[in-house]
Order: sequence, then C-alpha cells, then structure tokens
Amino acid sequence: MTDTFKAVKISEHVHWVGAIDWSITDFHGYSTDRGTTYNAYLLIADEPILIDTVKAPFKGELLSRIASVINPQDISYIISNHSEMDHSGCLAELIELVKPKKVFASVNGKKALNGHFQLGEKITAVKDGESIGLGSAKLTFMETRMLHWPDSMFTYFANDSLLFSQDAFGMHLATSERFADQLDEGVLEYEATKYYANILMPYSPLVSKLLEKVGGLNIDIKTIAPDHGPIWRKRLDRIMELYSKWAEQKPTMKAVVAYDTMWQSTAIMAQAIGEGLCAGGAEVKLMSLSSRHRSDVATELLDAGALLVGSPTINNQIFPTVADLLFYLKGLKPKNLIGGAFGSYGWSGEAVKQIVEVLGEMKVEQVGEGIRVKYVPDRDALEQCYSLGVLTSEKLKEVCNQG
Ligand code: FEO
Repeated sequence: MTDTFKAVKISEHVHWVGAIDWSITDFHGYSTDRGTTYNAYLLIADEPILIDTVKAPFKGELLSRIASVINPQDISYIISNHSEMDHSGCLAELIELVKPKKVFASVNGKKALNGHFQLGEKITAVKDGESIGLGSAKLTFMETRMLHWPDSMFTYFANDSLLFSQDAFGMHLATSERFADQLDEGVLEYEATKYYANILMPYSPLVSKLLEKVGGLNIDIKTIAPDHGPIWRKRLDRIMELYSKWAEQKPTMKAVVAYDTMWQSTAIMAQAIGEGLCAGGAEVKLMSLSSRHRSDVATELLDAGALLVGSPTINNQIFPTVADLLFYLKGLKPKNLIGGAFGSYGWSGEAVKQIVEVLGEMKVEQVGEGIRVKYVPDRDALEQCYSLGVLTSEKLKEVCNQG
C-alpha cells in the first residue's frame, strides 16, 4: 500500500479519507468537466468507524489515507449511507480486509448492497430515526429514500454536530481544498446547481419534505459532509436555501432556447426567437447542441421559466442531438415551464410536431403551435419567430407575477 495519500481532519473526531478523481469527464451522461471526489470519512472514537467507501479503482487511495491516521484493520464499524458503486465499489473488499464488527445500512441499503455484492447477514439494517452509540460515538440514521436511490440515508454524528449527507449537498468538483469556504463561490454555486439539476431535480418534491424534516429535528448541524465535492462548515444556510429554491422551481424571467441545425436555418430561427425574448424582457440562454452538453442545458433550465426547442427534420425525425436532449430532460421532470417548438425542414417536416408532443408529455405549457419553416426562413418567418419570443416573454411575466 502506498503512503502517498494523507487524511484531512475536518472536525474534532472526523477525517476525510476519500479519493480525488481529477480526470473523469462523464458521469452517466452528465459532463463532469471539473472532475469529482468520492468522499469517505473516518470517525475516530474509541471504536473507529468508516463512513462510506470509494469507487473501486480508488481503493488504494482510500486505504492510504486511512493508514495515515490508523491501521485500516483497526476500523470497528462501517456505515454505508448509499449503495451506488461510487461509494460502495470497494466495500466488499474492505469488509474482507478489515473484518469490522458490523456494517450498517438502511433497510433498502441492505437489499441493494446484497444485490451488488451478496454480503448476506454481514450488513445490519438500521431504521429511519434510529440512534445508536458505537463506543463513544452517538449516531442517528435518517432515511432519505429516492434522494436519489431507494437506499439513501443520512447519518448524523452528534458529538461533532456533523451530518454525513451522502450525495445530497454535493457536487462533482475535484479540488485540492476540502472545504467549500476555501473555493470560489461562483464555481461552487454553478457546480452545486449542475449536480442538483442533473441528479436530484426529478425528486424535488421529496427534497422539500426532507428539508422540512431536517429543520424540524432541532439538531445542531455545524458541518455537512457530502459524498462528492467540498465539505460545508460555514454558511450552511446558503446551500440549504439553494436546495429549497431549486426544489420549488418557481418560474423566472429566464428562457432557455436549445436547438441544433443542419444548414443554419434552425439556428437563425433560434436567434430571432432569442431577440424577441430579450425585447420582451426575458433573460435568454441560447444553446446550440453542437457545442453545449445536455447536462449544461439541464443546469440552465433549473432556474428558468421557459424552454424553447428547435430542430431540423432529418429522415422524418428530430435531429439526434435534440432528441437526446428532449429525452434526457423528460427524465429530469422539470416543473412549471412554458415553451414551444420550432425548426426548418425540406419536404416532410415532422420534427416540430414531434417536439410539441414531447414537450406536452413534459407538461410544458406551449405558447403557440410550433413554427415550421420550409428550407430557409424569409423575413416573414423570422418575424413569426421574433413574435414567438415576445409572446413567450409576455406569458412569462404573467406566470411570474402569479407566483
Ligand atoms: Fe454519488 Fe448516487 O452516488
């Protein structure tokens, strides 16, 4: 085992012993241009406890960081807050190596870990709200089902007022610094937004309930230690407020226009719609899918009020990048959007109708019927696009004023 990697103390009894993945650029279809971390934590009480593990290829880094504090074989307990393999990937090997007295997971966590690694009764299931003392450590478990897997749970460590929050409040961001307050606020907010939009957005109603539940527990939380990205030890209210805002998805005067193009006709239509939106007072994000990733569009959409989607027709279908975006967004279940469809075509022109259908399935309230332009938009067609932009802005104002 290498002794290159060191632990970082994050509170009186807890060390960060995770791994930094500087080179990952794709996480299940979500672009992770700034890499990520897989955070694991070593709790030093009279009986040491490991909270989560890391993705399998990073096992050596985890063990090296643990060994900078204690012999890994001295770990008495392991807690698995989340079964996804970026956090459980080397759990089975750790259990073999460490032979802990017990491994704890939620009831669903036990099922999921057994589905992955066939660990049988090596896993002890804990209930929602259950508190236990492991030596001097006082721990409470809190189920967070479907945030974002059925097994997900939080663990609260009362001695240090520290909440181990697994994926929640995390972000894909590889850094040499371990604390959020050491990092640029703009980068933090963007990456936290991107994480929420691409991982948690479909479960927003559950996020609202969870925030209420945590608020109602009357527990003192001084530190939030997530499983990805930096640790929050200052201004915890800021990340909580952002989660509350994102969970609501109240419409704003922001419009996302996402499109792709073959011979620039749909691009010119997008620009005319964008000009109309601006003239009507909306903030506009024009996103060409030839250069913008689906996960960046989802990120912009999280705090938007309108989504307009444009595609040429190719072989009777929506252009591939646009189809990819639509089905990705549909799965993320964005709420409270108005919008519309547009695109150019040569002879059959099915794409706009197909976009209208998908937007309907996404419960996007559509402004107009969709604009189809044969070959290249002329002055009248561009006027129509501009008017759609203006009309959408006006509708957005109404919707925002109602909210
Ligand atoms: Fe970071 Fe859902 O795993």
